[in-house]
Amino acid sequence: MRALPTTAITLLGASLLPSATEAQYVRDLSAEDWTLSSAALNRTVPARFPSQVHMDLLREGIIDEPYNDLNDFNLRWIADANWTYTSGKIEGLGDDYDSTWLVFDGLDTFTSISFCGQFVAATNNQFRQYMFDVSFILEGCGESPTLSIEFGSAPKIVDAIAQDPNSPTWPEGVQITYEYPNRWFMRKEQSDFGWDWGPAFAPAGPWKPGYVVQLKQAERVYVRNTDLDIYRQGQINYLPPDQSQPWVVNASLDYLGTLPENVSMAIEVKDIQTGEILASQPLTNVTFAEGSVTGITVLDGVEPKLWWPQGLGEQNLYNVTIAVTDGGNRSIAEVTKRTGFRTIFLNQRNITDAQLAQGIAPGANWHFEVNGHEFYAKGSNLIPPDSFWTRVTEKTMTRLFDAVVAGNQNMLRVWSSGAYLHDYIYDLADEKGILLWSEFQFSDALYPTDEAFLENVAAEVVYNVRRVNHHPSLALWAGGNEIEALMLVLVEAADPEAYPFYVGEYEKMYVSLFLPLVYENTRSISYSPSSTTNGYLDIDLSAAVPMAERYDNTTEGEYYGDTDHYNYDTSVAFDYGSYPVGRFANEFGFHSMPSLQTWQQALTDPDDLAFNSSVVMLRNHHYPAGGLMTDNFHNTSLGMGEMTQGVLSYYPTPDIPSDPLANFSAWCHATQLFQADMYKSQIQFYRRGSGLPERQLGSLYWQLEDIWQAPSWAGIEYGGRWKVLHYVARDIYKPVIVSPFWNYTTGALDIYVTSDLWTPVTGTVTLTWRDLAGRPVASNGGLPAAPLPFHVGALNTTRLYRMNLKQQPLPRHEDVILTLELSATGRLPNAAAAADDDQAETTFTHEQWFTPAFPKDLSLVDPRVRLTYDAEREKFVVEAAGGVALYTWLEHPEGVVGYFEENAFVLVPGQKKVVGFVVQEDETEGEWVKDVTVKSLWDLNEGGKRRV
Ligand SMILES: *[C@@H]1O[C@H](CO)[C@@H](O)[C@H](O)[C@H]1NC(C)=O
Ligand SMILES: *[C@@H]1O[C@H](CO)[C@@H](O)[C@H](O)[C@H]1NC(C)=O
Ligand SMILES: *[C@@H]1O[C@H](CO)[C@@H](O)[C@H](O)[C@H]1NC(C)=O
Ligand SMILES: *[C@@H]1O[C@H](CO)[C@@H](O)[C@H](O)[C@H]1NC(C)=O
Ligand SMILES: *[C@@H]1O[C@H](CO)[C@@H](O)[C@H](O)[C@H]1NC(C)=O
Repeated sequence: MRALPTTAITLLGASLLPSATEAQYVRDLSAEDWTLSSAALNRTVPARFPSQVHMDLLREGIIDEPYNDLNDFNLRWIADANWTYTSGKIEGLGDDYDSTWLVFDGLDTFTSISFCGQFVAATNNQFRQYMFDVSFILEGCGESPTLSIEFGSAPKIVDAIAQDPNSPTWPEGVQITYEYPNRWFMRKEQSDFGWDWGPAFAPAGPWKPGYVVQLKQAERVYVRNTDLDIYRQGQINYLPPDQSQPWVVNASLDYLGTLPENVSMAIEVKDIQTGEILASQPLTNVTFAEGSVTGITVLDGVEPKLWWPQGLGEQNLYNVTIAVTDGGNRSIAEVTKRTGFRTIFLNQRNITDAQLAQGIAPGANWHFEVNGHEFYAKGSNLIPPDSFWTRVTEKTMTRLFDAVVAGNQNMLRVWSSGAYLHDYIYDLADEKGILLWSEFQFSDALYPTDEAFLENVAAEVVYNVRRVNHHPSLALWAGGNEIEALMLVLVEAADPEAYPFYVGEYEKMYVSLFLPLVYENTRSISYSPSSTTNGYLDIDLSAAVPMAERYDNTTEGEYYGDTDHYNYDTSVAFDYGSYPVGRFANEFGFHSMPSLQTWQQALTDPDDLAFNSSVVMLRNHHYPAGGLMTDNFHNTSLGMGEMTQGVLSYYPTPDIPSDPLANFSAWCHATQLFQADMYKSQIQFYRRGSGLPERQLGSLYWQLEDIWQAPSWAGIEYGGRWKVLHYVARDIYKPVIVSPFWNYTTGALDIYVTSDLWTPVTGTVTLTWRDLAGRPVASNGGLPAAPLPFHVGALNTTRLYRMNLKQQPLPRHEDVILTLELSATGRLPNAAAAADDDQAETTFTHEQWFTPAFPKDLSLVDPRVRLTYDAEREKFVVEAAGGVALYTWLEHPEGVVGYFEENAFVLVPGQKKVVGFVVQEDETEGEWVKDVTVKSLWDLNEGGKRRV
């Protein structure tokens, strides 16, 4: 092969790795000219790296946007075929290196790799990093080599594995399939084969970067992964850390190449805001193991500012530079990771006597503690933001995470089974203070447990645990989704005799294998084998099964673990007695339609824009078990029917016969009203539990955002538009809230004030009854006219008022509305550590409303809502000139992404609301303001108007 002059190599190397010398050469594969070919296409097209087949075909105009119309079915020929990415000749590789490596940070999924026409290796795990020594192939190549990666058809390969008589089988009806079957045989994003909120594209391709790395013996090494673990001295994953202990920094580099003798390690800790160097010291106890070098140090006397989740304090970040030098003090490797100092602990320990004395019910805890403080986790579940990760950008994720912060959320559960998140996404979460409860990619299925499979997943777990450990946003590792609470239950029902065997299989992988792998690679992060469990009984690290799960070893009246709750019987949607009582709600929800504007992004034929059009129905994937692969193919009516029922039970029936498009839009919107009200009802119920015996300390609803344009549980539509849900969740996740709890059977109405501040808060709530024309009700319907004072303790709730509506001197319940206005003074956690002066006080407000009849039964009065734009203040002014406007809804056109400062609010006649809009993206050069519209409950149908 042709060698370049040394100077050229140095230059190339230098441009990619600032501190590299000619001892190391790293070539980013994105720099090559790539092509994509397939027998299914009969031709070769230009491609990119990293990429995915669908994205290259889209860019080359061979296919249309995959999300359009029924392309999720029409493009299946892509997933059914094999595809090959081939580089041009890779020029400039030197021949004076001792080794040459191919490094892939992510290949999706089944590949066969050749270099210079010679087979290198096959891979089968999307989530692993792969390294291959190709020194010998390069030596014998004789010309500049090409690299070729063939991606096999994942659906076909897993079908073949399933047919192998040596492959495991499971009892009938246990494994959950959406569209393509047999996903449990692949280490590939499980939702690529369809989910109840998403399509099945089964994409393939080199989805993450790749490199050619050339190294010289005993000189600089190539650092392929870093595990930076920061914890309090003596900290053990499953015990609360002692906050008085100094910080320990354990740094471990995974490298390619050979280390010289006598290496030493050191770290430097730098405040990225001030540039101040906090610590610069050697690491001790340096050890070597299989391509890793590890050292440790205690930061005695160093007190970095802590990192806090949003709403609980600042997000202080530090750069930690880890340097490896040889005996002559020459640099062998140097890595900088941005990190933060915090402890995050999932407390699953038994309730103590001290807690019992506080009125907490017996059982076990299940809540998070940050820097030694328990707090209320407010948030939702994150699914993959796109079927194609290669088109998810930092911009998309910034927009999404800004919506999370604006939504008063401090935690997301990164659900399995999408993918382990990229580093840049954790970086964003570090900056914005969003805790990421992260999971290994196993969900709603039982998985093989043969040795090869376990070895494969062990490598995946170790790589990812080490890769993301330095991010202060990392909150937890969980083994998988609904394996314990759902899969074991299903298998017990299907085959009771085999149940103990499957429990053993479960423990073999999620406890005996994964728990030690987590603990060996991080001391700062807790581990739970599955999301939604009753927690554990005990931990004994010397036992074969080191965590003894509680399973259904429970006692009536005690609480343990986290809950999930899905109830599609809409008749009990607002019945508090139907909600689970537990320590933490990690999933709950109900689906709704996206807006008309979002449907219009994907449905190119206007005739399809109808509630029961076949395209809309086929995008509803919430159908009976078995999914599209079975006889239920056309039975897509289940989810549609549930949404319809939710609307019909509680809201005026959308009915605008004169305008089919407006009618469709009204239906979409009405499903969102039901969804939002149901989540609000549950969130305030769970939050109130913070002050009740269950000491409930978290609610993460299902789900934050959409993967595409379809009916789903999301609060943010594909493209970034907020559904009613995200606005309503934002409101009910405020720190101090007032909530009406109505028992519509007995007539009892209890009003609670709930606070998740860490110090007591005092304030008042003004309760006002009005009729729906906006006039005061005589004697305020029996309620005191004066504001009611309250005092709520830290992370607590208090009952403000109790009444029975059947005994109140009220007009017809269909004619009245109660408004509740809260104003309070208190302190945000860590707001002013410096002083306890008045500056540290914050005013908290919350506005609520309540009607003693469901919206469909109300005698609405035309609110005659008016909208004007105040160009000077750049704000919208909304007024109701007629009656009370319920669910007043501002809507922005396509072309702009962002959110109104407030939405879905009640407007009383005479009241003027001034509402700003936070622009996240604007393609209209500001023209969008002209196309903002307003509507309210009144506008769901024409019938309402005729009723006046
Ligand atoms: C490629 O050729 C095959 C066989 O001739 C044909 O069936 C197929 O439709 C062709 N594919 C495309 C994308 O043209
Ligand atoms: C497709 O790829 C798989 C996996 O590499 C391989 O086993 C299979 O033979 C390939 N099929 C074709 C038609 O090339
Ligand atoms: C922190 O490290 C990052 C990554 O190496 C670097 O880009 C950034 O400039 C550093 N910041 C400071 C203040 O040194
Ligand atoms: C280094 O190893 C020694 C001997 O095993 C041990 O006593 C010491 O605690 C270790 N240092 C740190 C910082 O862990
Ligand atoms: C927690 O309580 C259970 C009984 O519910 C008991 O079996 C277990 O040993 C206790 N665990 C610890 C760590 O004390």
